[in-house]
Order: sequence, then structure tokens, then C-alpha cells
Amino acid sequence: MNRVKLFSGEQIPLEMHKPKIVQKIRLVPPERRMQAMEEAGYNNFLLKNEDVFLDMLTDSGVNAMSDAQQAAMMMADDSYAGSQTFTRLERKCQEIFGTRHFLPAHQGRACEHLLAKVLVRPGMIVPTNYHFTTTKAHIVLSGGEVVEAYVPEALETTSTYPFKGNMDVEKLEALIEEHGAEQVAFVRMEAGTNLIGGQPFSLANLAQVRDLCTRYGLILVLDASLLADNLHFIKEREEECRGLTIREITRSIADLVDVIYFSARKLGCARGGGICTNREDLFVKLRELLPLYEGFLTYGGMSVREMEAIAVGLEETMDEDMISQGPQFIAYMVEELQKRGVPVVTPPGGLGCHLNAAEFVDHLPQEQYPAGALAAALYLVSGIRGMERGTMSEARDAEGNEVLADLELLRLAVPRRVYTLSHVKYAIDRITWLYQHRRLIGGLHFVDEPQTLRFFLGRLAPLSPWPEQLVGKFEEDLGC
Ligand code: F0G
Repeated sequence: MNRVKLFSGEQIPLEMHKPKIVQKIRLVPPERRMQAMEEAGYNNFLLKNEDVFLDMLTDSGVNAMSDAQQAAMMMADDSYAGSQTFTRLERKCQEIFGTRHFLPAHQGRACEHLLAKVLVRPGMIVPTNYHFTTTKAHIVLSGGEVVEAYVPEALETTSTYPFKGNMDVEKLEALIEEHGAEQVAFVRMEAGTNLIGGQPFSLANLAQVRDLCTRYGLILVLDASLLADNLHFIKEREEECRGLTIREITRSIADLVDVIYFSARKLGCARGGGICTNREDLFVKLRELLPLYEGFLTYGGMSVREMEAIAVGLEETMDEDMISQGPQFIAYMVEELQKRGVPVVTPPGGLGCHLNAAEFVDHLPQEQYPAGALAAALYLVSGIRGMERGTMSEARDAEGNEVLADLELLRLAVPRRVYTLSHVKYAIDRITWLYQHRRLIGGLHFVDEPQTLRFFLGRLAPLSPWPEQLVGKFEEDLGC
């Protein structure tokens, strides 16, 4: 995205694309929002889109596609085996990542499932710069344990540290020494670290992790689902990489890891996933499981139309204008909220703007799910759907005790090329009103709590009639 200087002096993110297809959205009145929230069991995942104005739940599968992606979809070659579409996607991955093998899978968690099945044995550990929900669930299901090795800055919600997604290499080495290299299933680096606010790692840090893995003979796996944001931040924040193109940075990252997997619902702006590797031994093991769990080797559970869109989407990810759009809108939102005193995660990351619920609703204990309560409250006063990323997103321990999350965040995802500056301004306005009235927000408790990934389907209820009081005050002040 170009940095265009405005005559007025104001700094705004400027879109380097224009919408060619649009979708109507509706802002339903507060009383319907109250009803919808009741019906959804105070869980934003259970809201219906017809009741949602701005869907900031996620960037997964909802990024806008380009005209070139749509055009490529028309060329899809539908065939159970040997499809030309597969060959095109495989070649694109080979070209961009320099990896020989590509294994298609229906989405990111399917890649995690296959990798956990092949690499994780009971009692093994997986050190990571920070876990992701589905990754952790698959590793735990295979009898392994995820061990965090993040840098101290990772959990500082207010910071100027540019690479909060870095791995603490000393901690990683201590973990390997403590458990023994043979008990380390693999080392996992996540690009654009999701659960700490879309925070990047640096290329220099990845190189250090690589050195350690080589020294101990360990497999290094990259979760590249949020790679686009991480590429943007490396280019922008890492002095030594300023002169490199996005393509060169991508290749430098790929050359340092043994396995790359991604959710193509994020990377490549379509729907699907895949695993790329040069490791013949791993490829052969993973290949055996693919037809069993995903589909034949040349589609892996994906529609060939989506595969065509991914191939083009990966190429478009090499365009700085394209990958900087999300981070620049997010930076605008974060900075404007900061000016209004609202607690947000800094520095601004990729994926979305993250409100720090622990501070926003500091009167609520973690057992009352502050980030979940804030998510429900924001929907009630704006029709905006965000995602709880806190204690609700954690699983209880083996004894049934609550595992309190390191951070209590409300993530407001900014899907790429979807929302306009006026949408973002509306969000800033409603969040600011809510912050002024934050004491009206109360806690939640589960009334129906599934054992696995409870945040998806669990139903909750307010601990007091706070939603009615909040909406009453909102209607009095702003109407709808
Ligand atoms: N890894 C990361 C870093 C992710 O953010 C996700 C998904 C996955 C793996 C799993 O991929 O959804 O295609 O199966 N994140 C979504 C989100 C769900 O909303 O952040 P998937």
C-alpha cells in the first residue's frame, strides 16, 4: 500500500484495490441484537450472519478474492486423480517455497492432524513460540504436550517490541536439555502468532531456532497460516530485510524450516490448506495418511476451484500492496483507539485489532470470562461480532479445573480487502462508547460446556441482568 501524503496532514490507510462485487449487510436494532445474543447462548460463534453487521470474528475463509482468483476458478480441472489444477498449485508452492512436495488438505487443522499423527508419540513435547487452539488439541489428542517458549515481551500487551512472536532460544535449548531431544516431536514456529495478537517473528530469530534444531537433530515446522502479515512486518520492521523483496523473504523463511503447513482460509485468501516439504521421509509418511483422512493426493478434500484460487492467492501474497492492506487498517484502528484511552494490544499486529479485555473490564475475574463478556457486550451495542481469545478458548485441566489464559483478548479481525474506512470508524466509535460505559458489563458462566474446543459450541448466560442495563443505556444515548 502506498504511503500517500494527504494535504490535510491526516494519515489514513489507502486501499490499493476497488470492490467489484459487493454484499449487502444489515444493522439490526438493539432489541433484536439482545434476542439474537440470547439465542446464541452469549457465544458469538453461534450468532447467525443475518444478525451481524460487521463480521470481525475471523479472517478465516472470508478475505475478499481478487478478479484473477475468480477467473482462475473457471479453469479448474475436476478429476479424482492427476488433476491439472493440482499440478498448478504444486508448482506454485514449489516456486514460492522451494519445496519439492505438496500435500493438499481440506484446511489448516487437517494438516495439524496429519503432522501430529506422524510425529507425536505419547509423552513427547512440542515447543512453540505460542500455541494455537486447534494445533494444541491435535498434539494433545496424540498424547503429546505443547510447551511455550515465547519471549518475555510476548505477553506484555502494551509494548513497542517489534517481534513479540519470537521464540526464546535459551528457553528452547533448556527445554530440549530437560526433556532430551528424542522426546521433542518437533519444534513449531507460528508466523503472525495468532493468540498473542497476530505478532510476528523476525527472520533472525527463525535462523537462531534453525541452528538449534540442526544442532539437536530436530524437525522445525512452520505454521504459515498468517505468513502474509509476518512477511509485511519483517519487511517493515527488520532492518536487515529492508532491501529484500517479499519473495526473497518468503524463500529465506522457507529455506530455514523442514515443513511448512498453512490454512489457505488465511494464506492465499481462499479455502483449503496444505503441507510443503523437502523431507522425503516425512512426505512418504504423511502421504500414506492423506487418502484415508482427506482425499486423494491431488485434491486432499478441497474443491479444485478453491485450489485454483489458492495458487493465484499465493502469488498475490508476494505483492507488498496486497499484504500490507490488513496490517495498515489494523494499525489505524489500534492507534485511534489508543488516542481514546482504550486498552489495545501494541504494537499493532496482523489479523486484527485486539482489545485487552483484562484491562477493559478489569472488574471481572478471569473465571467470569472477561473477553467473552466484552465480545457479547460489543455485539449488543454495535452489531459487530468479534472473537473471544482468553480463558473461554482454553480447555479445563484433567481434574476439571479452569485453566486461566495468559491473556484475555477480544479479537476484532480485519478480513483482507473487505471493510472500508467508514466501517472501521464506526467500530472505533462504538468501542469508545462501550469503554466509557464498561462498568455496565458483567460476567458470564457456562450453562452447556463441551469438553473439546468448548468455545465453538458452548452456551453461556449472564451472571446478572447486565445486558438489559447496557442496552438500555445505549439506546438512551445513541438509539440504534
Ligand atoms: N494455525 C493458525 C495460526 C490459525 O490461525 C488457524 C486458524 C489454524 C492453524 C487452523 O486452520 O481454520 O484452516 O483449520 N485460525 C482461525 C482463526 C480459525 O479464526 O484464527 P483452519
